[in-house]
Amino acid sequence: MAVDLLLGLQWGDEGKGKIVDVLTKDYDIIARFQGGPNAGHTLEFDGIKHVLHTIPSGIFHDNAMNVIGNGVVIDPVIFKRELDNLKKFEGLDYKSKLIISRKAHLILPTHRLLDAASEASKGKAKIGSTLKGIGPTYMDKTGRNGIRVGDLELADWKERYTTLRDKHLTMIDYYDAKIEFDLAELETEFFAAITVLKSLTFIDSEEYLYQAQKSGKTILAEGAQGSLLDIDFGTYPYVTSSNTTAAGACTGLGVAPNQIGEVFGIFKAYTTRVGSGPFPTELFDEDGETMGRVGNEFGATTGRPRRCGWLDLVALKYAVRVNGVTQLMMMKGDVLSGFKSLKICTAYKYKGQEIDHLPYNIEPENVEVVYTEMAGWSEDLTGMTEASQLPKELNDYIDYLEKELETPIKIVSVGPDRTQTIHR
Ligand code: GDP
Ligand code: IMO
Ligand code: MG
Repeated sequence: MAVDLLLGLQWGDEGKGKIVDVLTKDYDIIARFQGGPNAGHTLEFDGIKHVLHTIPSGIFHDNAMNVIGNGVVIDPVIFKRELDNLKKFEGLDYKSKLIISRKAHLILPTHRLLDAASEASKGKAKIGSTLKGIGPTYMDKTGRNGIRVGDLELADWKERYTTLRDKHLTMIDYYDAKIEFDLAELETEFFAAITVLKSLTFIDSEEYLYQAQKSGKTILAEGAQGSLLDIDFGTYPYVTSSNTTAAGACTGLGVAPNQIGEVFGIFKAYTTRVGSGPFPTELFDEDGETMGRVGNEFGATTGRPRRCGWLDLVALKYAVRVNGVTQLMMMKGDVLSGFKSLKICTAYKYKGQEIDHLPYNIEPENVEVVYTEMAGWSEDLTGMTEASQLPKELNDYIDYLEKELETPIKIVSVGPDRTQTIHR
């Protein structure tokens, strides 16, 4: 059986959590492959809204096993809090449904402090990080200094922890920006959380997934962040520190490229971005304000307001190509109800020339946006359940995108709830 992928195609927060939850009934295993608690994946069902950070979005279904893959970075403290939050769901036995790769790296309290010191020292040039210690943890991973989940089974892991912590403390001193912290308190919390983490099952996830595939189990890999935040293909340096694109699922789970099946690419009917960095179609007017208000565009992890703008087809085409997307899913169409007309960015004027591919640098001084305009729709979509109910103007919008992206849009989401999902 092939492994299907679900990936965000923009700057994150496309609605990955919702769609993974919707699709889980068709899969035996849901596996996260990169990122960490910088992610905030929102699920809504039965009148409950729930945000997951590290735990895969299949956790609420009885049929699926949830795997945290080797490419993920885990903060035991946030992870413990996530588990505690699950306790309010009666009958949810997460211990039997959640397994963790021994090769996943641990976020230490000092990684978070380093993130804060690094960001503070950058001043205006800050990345706008979620400050969860993601960058410093991946730096230790690629620098070959990191501590992995599997190390917790070794007798000397605490000594290794102390060595790395002490190195981090020296590095924190290096930064001009001084940050306040109580290390003893952070460590008490960290070691308590490690005990909880150790109560879960650790696995060699590449072997687990290989055997699962061999025995005919269906697997869905859940991406975090979005393609434009990819460390290689995103708007560097305003990106995260992992490969959020399709190839990241291979390295983040140990799945061979020829085992990938469908690649579900998910995008909002408009664009949002949280944190710093270029955003060519960003709006600073009433339209942007309306998108933010109606779409409730606040970060699920940090609560920061998300920047809003029109759909950027140049960036979307790029993401479809880099990921090899086979099916698209368009989210939050309901938020655009009531706009008289809608703009779509079809090209950039880049250094005086019109181009339709994403150039090296999309900083505002290099890029001017070229728009096409389409008629909007006024109908409230949130109660619709069938494709036949969708207004003509929305169908025109969808048809245009399908043609330009050369990929079918198979799901149109019309609200945050599980049930507000239209299959085409
Ligand atoms: P993720 O990080 O990709 O999982 O997305 P987030 O959970 O961070 O952000 C998506 C937000 O949009 C969440 O608050 C969802 O509940 C909400 N959402 C998802 N799909 C829809 C939709 O079709 N319409 C509306 N109005 N909200 C949606
Ligand atoms: P989900 O999975 C939106 C952004 C941050 C910042 C940059 C780097 O919910 O879509 P980091 O904490 O990784 O050092 O931050 O990336 N960012 C996200 N934006 N959704 C996310 O995840 C994000 N994870 C990181 O705002 O600009
Ligand atoms: Mg999110």
